[in-house]
Amino acid sequence: MPTLSVHHIGYLVKKIEKARQTFLALGYHIEKDIVYDDIRKVNICFLTKDGYRIELVSPATEDSVVAGLLKKYKNSPYHICYETADIETAANDLTTNGFIAIDTPTPAPALGNRRVVFLTSAFAGMIELLENNTLS
Ligand code: NI
Repeated sequence: MPTLSVHHIGYLVKKIEKARQTFLALGYHIEKDIVYDDIRKVNICFLTKDGYRIELVSPATEDSVVAGLLKKYKNSPYHICYETADIETAANDLTTNGFIAIDTPTPAPALGNRRVVFLTSAFAGMIELLENNTLS
């Protein structure tokens, strides 16, 4: 299994600008301001605090991939993203530990078009893998 390093916690929000203002009031700093991901039809913003990075994710349309999740979870953390040097091998190895891939590695416009893939486990919920070819 390639090394997995925590990159961010994904946080579903209904209204991204109000959420951003609220997280700023909590002492977070904007790392990357709101970017529209036209593949997933979501708005995304990265914030940091105390060495933690969170990703605000908000559906931009009714048919966004996260619109249904938002109805279910409301404003809530919903995935942890792990960086890895080898996204294909990591995804493959995780499937032998009960994870099921729910999409295929696809560029993420909010992350410099590095590829991400989402997987889910009956026991650990949803995770995201993010490729980082500079990791050893
Ligand atoms: Ni994410």
